[in-house]
Amino acid sequence: MKKLVWLMAGVLAASLGMAQQTKLRVFVGGQQRPDVLRKILDIYEKRNPGVKVDIEVGGATSDQQQQYLTTVLASRDPSIDVILIDVIRPAQYAAAKWADTLDKYLPGISKVALLKQYLPAYAEADQIGGQLWALPSFADAQFLYYRKDLLEKYGLKPPKTWDELVKETQTILAGEKNPNLNGLGYIGAKAEGTVCTFLLPVWAAGGDVADTNGKLTLTEAQAQNALQFWLDTMDKYKISPPNMAEKAQDVVRQEMQQGRWVFGTLFGYAWARFQNDADSQVKGKIGVVPLPEFAGGRSATCLGGWQWTISNFSRDKAQAYKLVRFLSSAEVSKILAIDASNLPVLPSVYKDPDVLKANPWFADALPVVLTARARPVSARYPEISDAIVSNTNAVLARTKTPEQAAKDILAKLQQIYAGK
Ligand code: GLC
Repeated sequence: MKKLVWLMAGVLAASLGMAQQTKLRVFVGGQQRPDVLRKILDIYEKRNPGVKVDIEVGGATSDQQQQYLTTVLASRDPSIDVILIDVIRPAQYAAAKWADTLDKYLPGISKVALLKQYLPAYAEADQIGGQLWALPSFADAQFLYYRKDLLEKYGLKPPKTWDELVKETQTILAGEKNPNLNGLGYIGAKAEGTVCTFLLPVWAAGGDVADTNGKLTLTEAQAQNALQFWLDTMDKYKISPPNMAEKAQDVVRQEMQQGRWVFGTLFGYAWARFQNDADSQVKGKIGVVPLPEFAGGRSATCLGGWQWTISNFSRDKAQAYKLVRFLSSAEVSKILAIDASNLPVLPSVYKDPDVLKANPWFADALPVVLTARARPVSARYPEISDAIVSNTNAVLARTKTPEQAAKDILAKLQQIYAGK
């Protein structure tokens, strides 16, 4: 009898051992809530005995993550199977052949039907040259986060225009006389988010970097006006502290969480941090509204968002594909929305009562995401981004005038768009 038990235990162990064959590694950035992803992967592992998925975390900003991934992928390193990439990157991944197209895993299901579930902007962003390179994880856009308690104290409503925002900030700062309280926080550091900062006034003025045919349309005047606006927040309106050149997105988020900003132009993830983090000083004190409009009644926000792609160097692409389908499902979108305030990529999830309970402001967020503007789509996006970021950052650091920086941005973009 004893022998039989041992024999059975042996058979069980061997079959378990055989089942533990698939190991996958997923890469995400530090801001993308690896803790929430772990919970999601635990569900996947439970449902798929024999599959183990671990997480590699790297890079505090979108561009730092990509710098690291560029090294990994350029050396054809097979250690990462599935990667969470920013919405601006599919074209680069397709051109460099860092990703594998998902088309070959689709037989049996219709690509059109699959993509129809998602918000159109992401279905579009993930297809390059007619092929599918990624599936959406979560949507994103910049919103205006504000201190409800402070606005109420001064009898103010969330601003609808940037002029109103300037005046309200001045009123609150003058009234509070608190040297630790800053007015308007936005992304100004040498990091990807500064592209969005630069583009907000450009879009609001009716401009854009390029047209739908990929022809450069940005003018020097549009670039200069945009740069001047952000410089004025510090030097003329005095609603932002003089060191905005140092502010990366998550720095503003952390400081706002400590109660040190009245307003912040931040992406979706900030809400869950403000509401749920143990160290948050602003629980229940934050409101979220669409970004204000510039003169002329034009409002614009920057389309963000993250996508799951399969590394072309993965040794188990079929399993990686199965995982990506799970990670881009409505079920996972709901968990990301509730635990991380990541905006859903599927319109249906915005109506979910549990999602709305955790994020009441999602009720008004879908139209904002639907009308958000995309940054340029290009295989050379990193160079475009660098031209805009380094010059915008130099203006905020006052090492270049808006006029000079606008000239330099245009010169660089002209080169890139001319294919040089
Ligand atoms: C958010 C957006 C992403 C953007 C980044 C900039 O993560 O989703 O698209 O590039 O912020 O900081």
